[in-house]
Amino acid sequence: MKICVLPGDGIGPEIMAEAVRVLQALDLKFELEEALLGGAAVDASGDPYPEATRKLARAADAVLLGAVGGPKWDSLPREQRPERGLLGIRKDLGLFANLRPAILYPELANASTLKPEIVAGLDILIVRELTGDIYFGQPRGIENRNGERYGFNTMHYTESEIRRIGRVAFEAARKRNKRLCSVDKMNVLETTQLWRDVMTELAPEYPDVELSHMLVDNAAMQLVRAPKQFDVMVTGNMFGDILSDEASMLTGSIGMLPSASLDANNKGLYEPSHGSAPDIAGKGVANPLATILSAAMMLRYTFNREDAASRIEDAVKKVLAQGYRTGDIFEPGATKVGTKQMGDAVLAAL
Ligand code: IPM
Ligand code: MG
Repeated sequence: MKICVLPGDGIGPEIMAEAVRVLQALDLKFELEEALLGGAAVDASGDPYPEATRKLARAADAVLLGAVGGPKWDSLPREQRPERGLLGIRKDLGLFANLRPAILYPELANASTLKPEIVAGLDILIVRELTGDIYFGQPRGIENRNGERYGFNTMHYTESEIRRIGRVAFEAARKRNKRLCSVDKMNVLETTQLWRDVMTELAPEYPDVELSHMLVDNAAMQLVRAPKQFDVMVTGNMFGDILSDEASMLTGSIGMLPSASLDANNKGLYEPSHGSAPDIAGKGVANPLATILSAAMMLRYTFNREDAASRIEDAVKKVLAQGYRTGDIFEPGATKVGTKQMGDAVLAAL
């Protein structure tokens, strides 16, 4: 099991250290190799996704990533921004299927800004297309036209791109509660009319899954009105970016949510759904659980080790039940811990 470890920027190195300790505590044979991505890579080489990292990432079975970005690099030209490294590795490895579960742990019901009865028992999976859409569409840019600045991007999808993410979503729904909601903006955007058409064409192949469609603005509203109506949601790159952040807050903290980005052969990049949190970087207070849970997803999806994945997830549930909380999920009466102590607690629970 060859794993390329990319700690990244901000809190990335701190949370990654805990995930690596958890992996090493399992009696499995991993080959871990570390490389640079994002701002750390820009500082070292001027390139947010350097050749050395590309080589390691391509040769590995899976990539485990912390987070990238920070104010230090915000004024650099677009090609040198840390985010470009993240988009670059997703595209380079063909990671078109992004799985973002939003699960509310019962112990954290009060950490959500929504009423507990709205979110209790919440378990949603957002399937986001990750290598197409307006994120990668050409032409794009900012130019001078007719004496003023003109900004433009291009939204596009081919039917095969839609079909392959659709299949991932139908398969995922099949393993869960068999309900799939496809999210688009077909009342305005042709690209997403095609999205809806292709999803509808796929449905007969999955007669056991109930397919529904929802416009993205309504989906954003329904997520905070009655989120438990959803089982699996599937959508394009940009809508998925926005809806997955929204869904994460239903669970109390984005600091709890792992993600998997998979290619057609289940090679994957695993990363917490949250960012690099520069405001708390280096302080030892960040929540490492999303990264630890991302390592569990890696064991499940790339290495087919359901046993080891559940062991980690059970350990996380146990530390929550024991009352350990980092600042982002703290509530009165709980035991406040830092990043490393949270890692210690998970190791003890393992
Ligand atoms: C995410 C992030 C990235 C994205 C950024 C950092 C480029 O927001 O993974 O959701 O927009 O995909
Ligand atoms: Mg995002």
